[in-house]
Amino acid sequence: MSSLLEQIEQLRETIRRHEHLYYVLDQPELTDAEFDRLMLRLKEFEREHPELISPDSPTQRVGGQPREGFVKVRHSTPLMSLDNVYSEQELLDFDRRVREGAGEANIAYVTELKLDGLSIVLHYEQGRLERALTRGNGEIGEEVTANLRTIPSVPLRLSAAQLQQLPEEARPRFEVRGEVLMPRQSFSELNETRAAQGLPLFANPRNAAAGAVRTLDARVTAERKLDFFAYYLLHDGQFLCPSHYDGLRLLRALGLKVNPHSLLHHGITAVWDYVQAWEDKRDSLPYEIDGVVIKVDSVDLQRRLGATSKFPRWATAYKYAARQAVTKLLDIGISVGRTGALTPFAILDPVALGGVTVSRATLHNEDEIRRLDLKIGDFVLVERSGDVIPKVLRVELDRRPAGVREFRMPDLCPVCGAHAHKEEGEAVLRCVNTSCPAQLKENLVHFAHRGVMDIDGLGPSLVDQLVNHLAVRNVADLYQLTEEQLTSLERVGAKSARNLLGQIDRSRSNSLDRVIYGLGIRHVGERTAKDLAGHFGSIDALMNASVEQLQSAPEVGPRIAQSIFDFFQEPANRALVERLRHAGLRFEQEKKTATATPLAGKTLVLTGTLPSLSRDQAKRMIEEAGGKVAAAVSRKTDYVIAGEEAGSKLEKARELSIPVLDEEGLRTLLQS
Ligand code: IVH
Repeated sequence: MSSLLEQIEQLRETIRRHEHLYYVLDQPELTDAEFDRLMLRLKEFEREHPELISPDSPTQRVGGQPREGFVKVRHSTPLMSLDNVYSEQELLDFDRRVREGAGEANIAYVTELKLDGLSIVLHYEQGRLERALTRGNGEIGEEVTANLRTIPSVPLRLSAAQLQQLPEEARPRFEVRGEVLMPRQSFSELNETRAAQGLPLFANPRNAAAGAVRTLDARVTAERKLDFFAYYLLHDGQFLCPSHYDGLRLLRALGLKVNPHSLLHHGITAVWDYVQAWEDKRDSLPYEIDGVVIKVDSVDLQRRLGATSKFPRWATAYKYAARQAVTKLLDIGISVGRTGALTPFAILDPVALGGVTVSRATLHNEDEIRRLDLKIGDFVLVERSGDVIPKVLRVELDRRPAGVREFRMPDLCPVCGAHAHKEEGEAVLRCVNTSCPAQLKENLVHFAHRGVMDIDGLGPSLVDQLVNHLAVRNVADLYQLTEEQLTSLERVGAKSARNLLGQIDRSRSNSLDRVIYGLGIRHVGERTAKDLAGHFGSIDALMNASVEQLQSAPEVGPRIAQSIFDFFQEPANRALVERLRHAGLRFEQEKKTATATPLAGKTLVLTGTLPSLSRDQAKRMIEEAGGKVAAAVSRKTDYVIAGEEAGSKLEKARELSIPVLDEEGLRTLLQS
């Protein structure tokens, strides 16, 4: 019997391995739920034995108490910055200088994407993350260890096998340099939340990432969803490998996340091809880059070339053209989204930005217009970054023409004419009418969404057709659709019409919390809907609750309570609820009984395509019956559910003599 400490360590090792698979390699072996369960087990363990918590435990990423200030630490060797080149000619000049310095005709270069983040130095001792430093002034950085710990792709501890990859002398301590960045997705979510809360927005992911790294409260870093890519491995201030490219490979073997697009080339021609190719492809990346970094591969040659007072002579950055330009603000328009938010947008004098003509830019909300001091007729600096909507960065105040016009948000929704209303503490004005055509399509898509009523096949393009051609005006209309109506639409055959109707019909039996979530009440997400269903037990109780009663539900504060109350005050919304009741949706919470869990304690694996259930649907049915779904077949698997084109999992099941069922078999099992 192993000691408690050994058991905890083993569990941590397992979690670290799965974190690496998920965050670094992007190849998860476990489902999210399985991973969460491991983490939960560790947390419980540690709660019972707080004396066994170690700073490199996977649970310690959450971020502790805010700190007083940053400690300054001198870097082992200064962090240099890079010289920039902006054209093919300047790139060729760089290559010529390198060749002359080297006395060689053909140079091996490594190209890397120039990630638009901030550089960070990680110090590992005995394979554990001991210290993380910002660049600071290049000589002296600031200690931000607690913050860097919250980034899932930063390993807190390397396994013994990973550490073995290093030459012996480097195992006690080594240093990793790299870039912390904020993926576009995290950035836009962050700004959306901030806009809704009336907080100032971040101008770009880089600033948002820098703020998150330099905060004194690690919980803020944890919320900002950052990523880290390593590009240097040092020992005693020296590169560990004679080839930079090998250095990247070694970093990868150590379990660090290395950008997959780094390449080794012979000669500058291939480098130029790479630079050009990425200028076209940069929008397809999930994060922003502002160029390509070109590094001489041979560390010996790097040493011979040396550095100027500012930059290494063996590396340079090819910077892509900025996608900013000044143009005139012709007017401000208003768009209306799913939640009814009235969003102002800039109507611009068309201007070319990095190969695209831009005539609109987002303005987020009224506060943003005020913050920018924007007036109609102003000259504005516009930026297009990646595939996101262009935005107005600032007003060229010194060029303000005479006769510019003040802008005011409208009092009425420009689409349906209903009142627009601003909630307390919010910066956003909203249309109160949920049947407003602008909100309608978005509402229908939300209703049909996987995590909501899960009506497979009802996506944005079909919703467009339903609204435009079949006069669907709210979610209750979905339950009245007929096969004839559906087949009258473009690209809808009899088979898909029947499938859709089947899906709609099936959604009638969805649990109450899903129906509540599907109504699209502001501030009521999946979690809150579950809490509400559990607390009130029926739509009627919820609909007739006072603000005070609503606040007595778990996790419901004054803001959510008011929003639910307002929703049910609106006669159109009450009418909608009645029609849904009429359509036969579940308006009461089903009681969970022992018989509802025929699969308690059982592990199932899904493989191949099932005839009528999507993978998510099958998974949910299994989980609702108390079973769990695993990603891989093992001896612990109880059943494998196989559909068409089932592959290696089916073979494995046969190998291990695990019962294999089809969809029919699954249904029988669920009813047992
Ligand atoms: S190498 C002397 N590689 O760009 C070498 N830097 O302008 C300096 N950066 O401060 C760093 N991606 O923050 C390197 N693949 C990459 C990079 C990269 C982004 C940033 C880094 C540095 C700045 C230099």
